[in-house]
Amino acid sequence: MMQAQIDQYTAEINAFSPANADELEAFRIKFLGTKGIIKDLFEQFKTVGPEEKRTFGKVLNEFKQLADAKYNELKENIATSTQSKGNDLDLTLPGDGFAVGSRHPLSLVRNEIIDIFKRLGFVVAEGPEIEDDWHNFSALNFPDEHPARDMQDTFFIKKNNGKDDIALRTHTSSVQVRMMEHGKPPFRAIMPGRVYRNEAISARAHCFFHQVEGLYVDENVSFSDLKQTLYHFVQELYGEGTKVRFRPSYFPFTEPSAEMDISCTICGGPGCNMCKYTGWVEILGCGMVDPNVLENCGIDSKKYTGFAFGMGMERIANLKYVIRDLRLFSENDVRFLKQFQTEML
Ligand code: DAH
Repeated sequence: MMQAQIDQYTAEINAFSPANADELEAFRIKFLGTKGIIKDLFEQFKTVGPEEKRTFGKVLNEFKQLADAKYNELKENIATSTQSKGNDLDLTLPGDGFAVGSRHPLSLVRNEIIDIFKRLGFVVAEGPEIEDDWHNFSALNFPDEHPARDMQDTFFIKKNNGKDDIALRTHTSSVQVRMMEHGKPPFRAIMPGRVYRNEAISARAHCFFHQVEGLYVDENVSFSDLKQTLYHFVQELYGEGTKVRFRPSYFPFTEPSAEMDISCTICGGPGCNMCKYTGWVEILGCGMVDPNVLENCGIDSKKYTGFAFGMGMERIANLKYVIRDLRLFSENDVRFLKQFQTEML
């Protein structure tokens, strides 16, 4: 009677395979618990005759050992498998991506301009954004009361001796003056920076924007050096085959002065919205440094000549990326910014 029962339980134990820790615990309670089957069998064992005791004592002990061993083995298996689940460690999964920033379009353009001129031996120089009248105007040959001063819609900050003096610089040409005052020729530099003008903010005008100034002063620098340098710059920046043309213009600090147009970077010539159907777009002002400017900065204008140029970076960026609204450059809208080249790590 007991033998048949034990055989049945033995088969049950051997076949037992729990899906989880709860099933294993149920198994323990059923067989090994204080009110479990083994306990019960030992109770029954007490009541059998001495003859049976000998045979079944051994059978019963073996059965108990089997149940114990099975339980211990299963417990260990379940412990190790839940442990690896808990860690959730799968080394084959791809790594977590992490966000990398992108360059601001003006930084992209500035770096590109710097790169091109560096290859021609130009250095990069900077000057203060808060300037005095001398560096922003007078040294650059703007006579007192000259209308060109009004043209630049200056934000004056402070008067000196009753006259407007300290201002937010209206152009990076002021850095030319600082450079020439503090050094000795030859000068070969580009000067990127932010400039300010008192303009109502709209899609086409802003109260601050960015310029790059260029200056080349040495013995025997001629207008053809200017043309060749700027021609090379344009080929590098917008691609070979981009045409250039120079139109006579006026700036107080250059004589002669010119404005440089390039063939439209969008339509290439036939005419489009960008070039107002002319096929040409203006990109910079330039000229031979006026001898008065050289003298104002303590440079012998009999010995040295030079050329200078200045361009708006927003304009250059616009011709590269077709950005219709100037305000986008300073609003920090991520939807706009993330369209540009991603920073490499
Ligand atoms: N400073 C001028 C401006 O803000 C740009 C410019 C024109 C700079 C001619 C130059 C130059 O150096 O030669 O409009």
